[in-house]
Amino acid sequence: MMRIYETANYEEMSRKAANILSAQVILKPDCVLGLATGSTPIGTYDQLVEWYEKGDLDFSEVKTVNLDEYRGLTRDNDQSYYYFMHEHLFDRVNIDPANTNVPDGTEPDAEKECDRYEKLIDSMGGIDIQLLGLGHNGHIGFNEPDSSFAKKTHCVDLTESTIEANKRFFASADEVPRQAYTMGIGTIMKAKKILLVVNGEAKADIVAKAFFGPVTPEVPASILQLHNDVVIVADKAALSKIPAQA
Ligand code: F6R
Repeated sequence: MMRIYETANYEEMSRKAANILSAQVILKPDCVLGLATGSTPIGTYDQLVEWYEKGDLDFSEVKTVNLDEYRGLTRDNDQSYYYFMHEHLFDRVNIDPANTNVPDGTEPDAEKECDRYEKLIDSMGGIDIQLLGLGHNGHIGFNEPDSSFAKKTHCVDLTESTIEANKRFFASADEVPRQAYTMGIGTIMKAKKILLVVNGEAKADIVAKAFFGPVTPEVPASILQLHNDVVIVADKAALSKIPAQA
């Protein structure tokens, strides 16, 4: 089942998403949260931190697994997703760093690392709720449009456009990672619940395509239509192009 919550703006979207994640943490204090990076969830993390500071949330038993990481970046590189997660969430709440997991971008053996990560998620009992953002082309994690759905955690080659877009964050184009490790579509679909956050008019077309169009690997997020417990929290602008009867 797919439930869509429409919010007035980004702030409300962030509060609603944080509400859903905190409900999970309160109901199951040792839950496994699947987490995402990118600009969309930053407000959600800020809201969780605020509630933690107020004493309403306790992360001491929470475990986390992140969707993806650039291959080749060290943890102290400020563009790594490891760094991002510490900056926006882990260093700001009482989570045990030993309970947080991000694919290890410094492991050169891609197959070994992806296999380890997939097994780790299984050994944790699976993901209770997976937070996702939505790429402009419908990607989730680093699962880009393709001719088939990738099942497990795997290594992907970044597209030229992604490398180009990321260039500004690095000293030179040479330093931009060329590959990433990402959960597969199958890994994501195994999560018990999915929470996707999306905002802004620039995502309105892809929201309509992904959630109201045909299920196809050319739009990776469209597979979520087949998951039995999906919540989409989107602002009005992001929902501005969905079919009227929806
Ligand atoms: C993040 C991730 C990506 C982003 C997506 C949207 O870990 O895997 O799929 O969720 O690119 O990014 P933003 O939120 O920056 O628009």
